[in-house]
Amino acid sequence: MLGEMPLPRLVIVSNRVGVPEGGARAGGLEVAIRPALKRRGGVWFGWSGRITDEDPGPAKTAQHDNVAYVTIDLRRDDYDEFYNGFANRVLWPILHYRLDLAEFSRRDLGGYLRVNEYFARHLEKILKDDDIVWVHDYHLMPLAQALRERGHKNKIGFFIHIPCPPPEILTALPNHERLIPALGFYDLIGFQTEVDANNFSRYLTDECRLKQVADDTFAIDGRSVRVGVFPVGVETEAFARLARRAVETAFVREVLDSLSGRAMIIGVDRLDYSKGIPERMHAFERFLANFPDWRGKVTYLQITPRSRTGIQEYADIGRTVGETVGRINGAYGEASWTPVRYINKAHSRTALAGLYRAARAALVTPLRDGMNLVAKEYVAAQNPDDPGVLVLSRFAGAAHECAAALLVNPYDSEGVAIALNRALAMPLDERRQRHAANFKVLVGNDLSRWAERFLATLEKPAMSAAPLRLAAGRVRT
Ligand code: UDP
Ligand code: G6P
Repeated sequence: MLGEMPLPRLVIVSNRVGVPEGGARAGGLEVAIRPALKRRGGVWFGWSGRITDEDPGPAKTAQHDNVAYVTIDLRRDDYDEFYNGFANRVLWPILHYRLDLAEFSRRDLGGYLRVNEYFARHLEKILKDDDIVWVHDYHLMPLAQALRERGHKNKIGFFIHIPCPPPEILTALPNHERLIPALGFYDLIGFQTEVDANNFSRYLTDECRLKQVADDTFAIDGRSVRVGVFPVGVETEAFARLARRAVETAFVREVLDSLSGRAMIIGVDRLDYSKGIPERMHAFERFLANFPDWRGKVTYLQITPRSRTGIQEYADIGRTVGETVGRINGAYGEASWTPVRYINKAHSRTALAGLYRAARAALVTPLRDGMNLVAKEYVAAQNPDDPGVLVLSRFAGAAHECAAALLVNPYDSEGVAIALNRALAMPLDERRQRHAANFKVLVGNDLSRWAERFLATLEKPAMSAAPLRLAAGRVRT
């Protein structure tokens, strides 16, 4: 009898690598990839998180169980131009619909392309012919092209964790005609939502004049490129079990004791302008002003680890939030009650799971977010018999699945204040129904299905495509 064919080796590539024992760090990409890779085993290749003024030297490998973590250091100028520069000051704001915050420089674009070349150079030292390569996020859009130009014919997939705006916004990206079509060197391009995938497909048809040869397939230079929707999930039932245990820990008990019986509202976000934290603070201020009965009865805990601290816009948002918290606490606080607790420390996922379960409501109100795993974790963590209520931005990818949350417009602070009042006053029956509906969807789209579906689609044989040349220019790296 023939045995099962062994699966080809999986090589994951991302800027951020979740090396175990790296401590509590915020970021959905790392949280999503780690369990997915552990299940199948393979290699996780990317930046070590170290910056050096010397020659970065060879890649370092650390083997933990069935995963080899292969990491490279970044030279300081590369870090400035690639990470702080093009990735986080151009691509991040534009892909989050924030043209007003984009700061383009040709030098940074040069650094971005150079670091993608540098990744390709190191990656090819470990790449085998039949490896499946799965590249993640906006830092590495031109990586497939750099690998193809070195002759690699592996199946290469790309997943973007953040939003993809419509072509009307994408075309404001300087050099978009060189960068976006470079995605055509991947075999499969995955998005979080239908809206993101449709925006990208519209870019390919309108800007690159490509024709769709099937529902999800474009023909580019004689190759087929698939576009698909693969919403990232959480490990729903495992997270629910974790939360059941975590709520009993000394840490969570201590937090609850310190609230003296007040209801807790929770927010958990990296300190990032896309998360709408100042707008949310204004909404909480409106809530205290418009619903005075809640004063002294609720405490809003906002956990906000600092992020990308080398970038001016991130320092600015930190200052704005700090000032707003101070104003709210000054105006409404009492000697015995602080309305907002604002904490910049990263917490472990166990600690978060327990806090989510203990919170009567969660405020997850990004101005724009690819998915937002915090929203899904909050749902997964609830006690189904007495669940808390999720107040969720309609502009988070998670709103497509968590449609039974209280969906809000994060720019409308009065509306968010009304939703928060409704969440805290919601009868048990309605809370249970809303939670059960969201939980069911999240069980159906567990994190394991995300990786399985993406990889199964990537490994499917490609359909043959009649050659059609890109109308737009090719990326030169
Ligand atoms: N997170 C964490 N510790 C913290 C704050 C956040 O482990 O102190 C995790 C959180 O549980 C979630 C992820 O970081 O899994 C954030 O993902 P999300 O999609 O919400 O936002 P992102 O930071 O990727 O934009
Ligand atoms: C988001 C991005 C990830 C990134 C994470 C943390 O989730 O989609 O690519 O890793 O934020 O940001 P950082 O810049 O610290 O890696």
